[in-house]
Amino acid sequence: MSFDKNFLWGAASASTQIEGAYKEDGKVLSIWDALLGDHIKHGENAFVACDHYHRFSEDIAIMKQLGLKSYRFSVSWCRVIKNSSGEINEKGLSFYKELVAQLLANGIEPLCTIYHWDLPMWAYELGGWKNEEIIKWYLHYVKTLVKELPEIKYWFTFNEPQCFVGLSYYLGVQAPFEKNDISTIAQISRNVMLAHGEAVKAIRTLNQEAKVSLAFANAAFIPVSQKDSDVEEAKTKSFNIEDPVGISWWGDSILLGKFPEPLNKLLSEEDKNTICQPLDFYAFNTYNAPDWVEGPFNGYPTTTMGWKVTPDVLYWTTKFLYERYGKPIMVSENGMANCDWVMSDGKVHDPQRIDFIKQYLNSLKKAADEVPVIGYQYWALTDNFEWTCGYDSRFGLVYIDYSSQKRTLKDSAYYYADIIKNNGENL
Ligand code: FCB
Repeated sequence: MSFDKNFLWGAASASTQIEGAYKEDGKVLSIWDALLGDHIKHGENAFVACDHYHRFSEDIAIMKQLGLKSYRFSVSWCRVIKNSSGEINEKGLSFYKELVAQLLANGIEPLCTIYHWDLPMWAYELGGWKNEEIIKWYLHYVKTLVKELPEIKYWFTFNEPQCFVGLSYYLGVQAPFEKNDISTIAQISRNVMLAHGEAVKAIRTLNQEAKVSLAFANAAFIPVSQKDSDVEEAKTKSFNIEDPVGISWWGDSILLGKFPEPLNKLLSEEDKNTICQPLDFYAFNTYNAPDWVEGPFNGYPTTTMGWKVTPDVLYWTTKFLYERYGKPIMVSENGMANCDWVMSDGKVHDPQRIDFIKQYLNSLKKAADEVPVIGYQYWALTDNFEWTCGYDSRFGLVYIDYSSQKRTLKDSAYYYADIIKNNGENL
């Protein structure tokens, strides 16, 4: 059997993208609430999003209907901690306690991301990830969560440092939309990595059963043929350590204790030991192979994000990452945006997504025959606020009508449910 009997078949989400209720029950503003300017398509925002904050029970009922084994969600730092003095917002915490309780009551394993990009404005105004004080603020937040939510076993310290550092502070295309030089990026990376390392230590102290990782944004180059020399070439291109949005800047540092030059200069031996904490598994989000992001496309299949459909990326990334880091692998995000609507028969037919899931999962299955793979989280459970792309990009298994908040299961949701039921044997 390719997929283990305890394989975590799930779906993913993130607080900003689904919750709404952006200033309810004591939640403070995040950079994704307050710094939007004219950066978001159609001038949209995440103030209401999928209104999951009020409708989470309905969403959990859908997960149950689909037979999900796991659900990856993120906690909003802004709901839980009010300011730099560390004041806790009990109402915000209660929301997550209830969410976790209902997931467990329905037999769904909660996979919790501690930070999925929604930096509180109070932290941003004090320098955000540029200020090393943030390590202390973040650690207080982490400890609060782990103490208050002891039932959660799977913890991800961060989602995609490649993006919330690289895209946000280097390329300037995500909030807070800054372009900094490489030495500032090294400083920010240092703060993020130390925060990660301290968090891993704290999580292990507070919950002995915890399984800890970080969801990296990783996509390996696909070899042009199976020849050894082509495979080696793809590997070399995939692991260029000097690229802050690449795999190795983060992976080699955190897993192997090998650091890119601008970062190495900033670290003491003690820092390095803190950063390089053993992880229980290696998690990565992937959508397409990196060399095919730019084009020319020549009519090649793409999603409505303009991203190429490259199923083999799952096989090669999984294999390369296992060989390099030696940890069981989890695909913590994978999916596609499609041109979906509720059709005249009242249903959402999305054959492209069905085929996407089929091809990508077959690729993962091939990898799972060779290396340990522990789970797959489809991005996303529901359509949601896709950052600067607003609401046009529909990634969900479940369609959201944003004017009524009505949920409609797409054809792909039923297809995925069937795969889960058969543990992937019917792929
Ligand atoms: C990933 C993000 C996730 C979502 C998908 C499409 O980079 O982690 O929040 O936006 O892309």
